[in-house]
Amino acid sequence: MLKADSARPWTNPDAKPQIVIDGVSKTFGSVTAVDNVSLNIYQGEMFALVGASGCGKTTLLRTLAGFERQTSGHISIDGVEMSAVPPHERPVNMMFQSYALFPHMTVESNVGYGIRRFPIDRTERKRRIEQALEMVQLAHLGRRKPHQLSGGQRQRVALARALIRRPKVLLLDEPLSALDKKLREKTQFELMDLQHEVGITFVVVTHDQDEAMALSSRIAVMDRGKVVQVGTPSEIYEFPASRFVADFVGTTNLFEGTITAAEPGLVRVQCSETGSELLVDDVGRFCARQRVWVALRPEKIRLGKQPPVGERVNVLRGVVWELGYLGKSSTYQIKIPSGKLVTVQAQNERRTSEWAIDWNDEVYVSWQADAAIILQS
Ligand SMILES: Nc1ncnc2c1ncn2[C@@H]1O[C@H](COP(=O)(O)OP(=O)(O)OP(=O)(O)O)[C@@H](O)[C@H]1O
Ligand SMILES: [Mg+2]
Repeated sequence: MLKADSARPWTNPDAKPQIVIDGVSKTFGSVTAVDNVSLNIYQGEMFALVGASGCGKTTLLRTLAGFERQTSGHISIDGVEMSAVPPHERPVNMMFQSYALFPHMTVESNVGYGIRRFPIDRTERKRRIEQALEMVQLAHLGRRKPHQLSGGQRQRVALARALIRRPKVLLLDEPLSALDKKLREKTQFELMDLQHEVGITFVVVTHDQDEAMALSSRIAVMDRGKVVQVGTPSEIYEFPASRFVADFVGTTNLFEGTITAAEPGLVRVQCSETGSELLVDDVGRFCARQRVWVALRPEKIRLGKQPPVGERVNVLRGVVWELGYLGKSSTYQIKIPSGKLVTVQAQNERRTSEWAIDWNDEVYVSWQADAAIILQS
């Protein structure tokens, strides 16, 4: 997430990206780990790479850091082509997926390890270590050994060790994966604060899509070595480019169908699974007889025991098949006559309700034409 007052440099054609990844591929024998990836990343971004296990996230980071040499393509940072620059001379630092701390060293020594080769005297070294530990709020634990720390504290030591070198770009591979959910959320915010404070560019790999949504200025979704979409969290969530992205980021209902009529602002999709024509408000250019998918997020659907009223409303009838109470909301699986399950998420506004919807209830599922989008692949 960027500060509210900062611009969105990627929307400004005159803004110069700090990191330019241009047609980069990396193969290991017959495996193409990174496949022709091009990305522009701007100074101060918290840029997330997400995708399933094995899709090439770590390999792309390692290539940025210089630990892998790309098979083809170019990488430049601050206008300097990186091909001939060895890892330790690049203005980047990487925090690894398994951030190995030295168990026999104190927290201070672990952090100081990051600058062991810097030509600075003892006082300056000590000052830098203190400063780095303060940044991650661990100044009071400098004398401890890693096994005397919690998982979250260890994670912050690794972060301090990466930050102490004052890189222009920090690469973080699954920085929070060792933490439980509560601590992960807390640490996410700390990481965001820290990033604002130090102003450096973060490229963060995560397979946790909620984390990517909460943390980042932009997200790149990867699939089998390729970047399939780049956008802000809300662009990716509200306007996924394909079924793959829609399904990977959050939950989505997909209805396959054929376009019967496309006027500006209203597309009609004949859908065999619903046995009806679905209305979709969409600005895309479509033509009749095209095969498409209507994608609809669970929280954009209304559930009721009475049929809804209004124009441009899509209505399906069904029965409650599954019901999951999640505290602030509930998730329902509604079975429509074709047997398809529609996922609906509804806020639990009241503590109890005589209108409560229960298992096997007959219900109406409805949504406005502008709640869904059309996907072509
Ligand atoms: N040194 C290597 N030699 C051969 N194949 C490799 C090597 N490193 C990675 N790969 C392969 O490249 C692909 C991408 O691996 P990578 O580690 O980049 O995935 P990832 O997206 O980071 O996955 P995860 O989420 O599990 O960490 C995988 O198929 C992996 O097996
Ligand atoms: Mg990885």
